[in-house]
Amino acid sequence: MKNPFHFTEVATAPSFCNREKECQDLTHYIGNAQNILLFSHRRYGKTSLIHKVLGGLKEVQPFYVDLYGTTSVEEFIAITIRALTCEMPTIEKALGWLRKSFTRLTFQFSTDPMTGLPSVTPTLSGSDEEAALQELFSTLESLSRKKNLVVVFDEFQETSAYNAPYFEKRIRKEIQNHQRISYLFSGSQRHMLSAMFTDTKRALYKLAVSYPLPPIETSHYVAWASALFRHGKRAISEEILDDVVQRCENHPMYVQEFYYHLWEEGVPESGVEGLERAILERRAIEFINLFSSMTPNQKRAMKLLARCGGKGLFSAKNLQSVGFSSTSQATRALEALRVRDDVVKNGTWAVADPLFKKWVLKLA
Ligand SMILES: Nc1ncnc2c1ncn2[C@@H]1O[C@H](COP(=O)(O)OP(=O)(O)OP(=O)(O)O)[C@@H](O)[C@H]1O
Ligand SMILES: [Mg+2]
Repeated sequence: MKNPFHFTEVATAPSFCNREKECQDLTHYIGNAQNILLFSHRRYGKTSLIHKVLGGLKEVQPFYVDLYGTTSVEEFIAITIRALTCEMPTIEKALGWLRKSFTRLTFQFSTDPMTGLPSVTPTLSGSDEEAALQELFSTLESLSRKKNLVVVFDEFQETSAYNAPYFEKRIRKEIQNHQRISYLFSGSQRHMLSAMFTDTKRALYKLAVSYPLPPIETSHYVAWASALFRHGKRAISEEILDDVVQRCENHPMYVQEFYYHLWEEGVPESGVEGLERAILERRAIEFINLFSSMTPNQKRAMKLLARCGGKGLFSAKNLQSVGFSSTSQATRALEALRVRDDVVKNGTWAVADPLFKKWVLKLA
């Protein structure tokens, strides 16, 4: 049996652990054509969950749009259109349908140099992006008359940098009357996304039910991983599997990374502690880059948080230990890190990435 654990790609069976409740919840919302805002810190399993849910739908036609890397409304339109046509049986059929449905766009036919497959690239014929956007959503509405749809916009936070003030307003105007479509907005910048949907002044306010993705429970990880190790005839104790989950604070990508190595190499002589050291070393460049991108006060705040674990954060002794001269200085730096998504505040402050926290702890 091949190593079933993966930590760089979307998790599919058998490397997909549980999430039964989340699958049920999302399927239920989609079935009722509710709009959903799915968010979590990075690499928590949103895309994997979405694909699992879409794969199990029976009565609803899914369209999945990955907005990562898009920088303009024109690209938003183009990539959404590609998602609508990718299942069509022939390029001719796709072109015919596109020309009939979109009067504001022209379509070029080309061969993808990477895959050798034919593809269609839409371009805006005039300068009126807003009208083209309207046409895109009207087309979705027409499609939904035949069968209910779910349209997923993954990495939706990218749209905040489109520099198109009308974008959110137009989306609200179009989708609020779509009775047979569930729009699923997903992304990782919690702060930015929740501002989009929960700020009373923003156009998307209350347009979607908020679904913060919870961590996978420890017992689910242990049951899932022990079954896989058993199946692969590899001996490992539940204590070790549990220890990994605790160290990774239930973060799915890191849990998979530890299990991947335990499967390949077995438990090292230095134990799970030794494996953790090796993983921190492998990730050092990534963590150095992240730390370097912070201002001096943000670095102090990160050290403070890593050391105190959210407790006694603002005591004079702790503030001084990292070089802060006042509580307000520390609070400002923590707030800035929250906007960057590097720390979270759920009652208490915490570092978002559990292994980065361990790396920061090793700094002087
Ligand atoms: N249900 C799951 N069971 C086990 N591991 C999972 C599960 N979901 C995700 N993972 C692990 O987490 C990693 C990241 O998953 P995924 O890409 O779905 O997260 P994401 O939240 O969409 O990430 P990003 O914020 O980068 O878009 C996967 O490579 C996999 O190792
Ligand atoms: Mg993702």
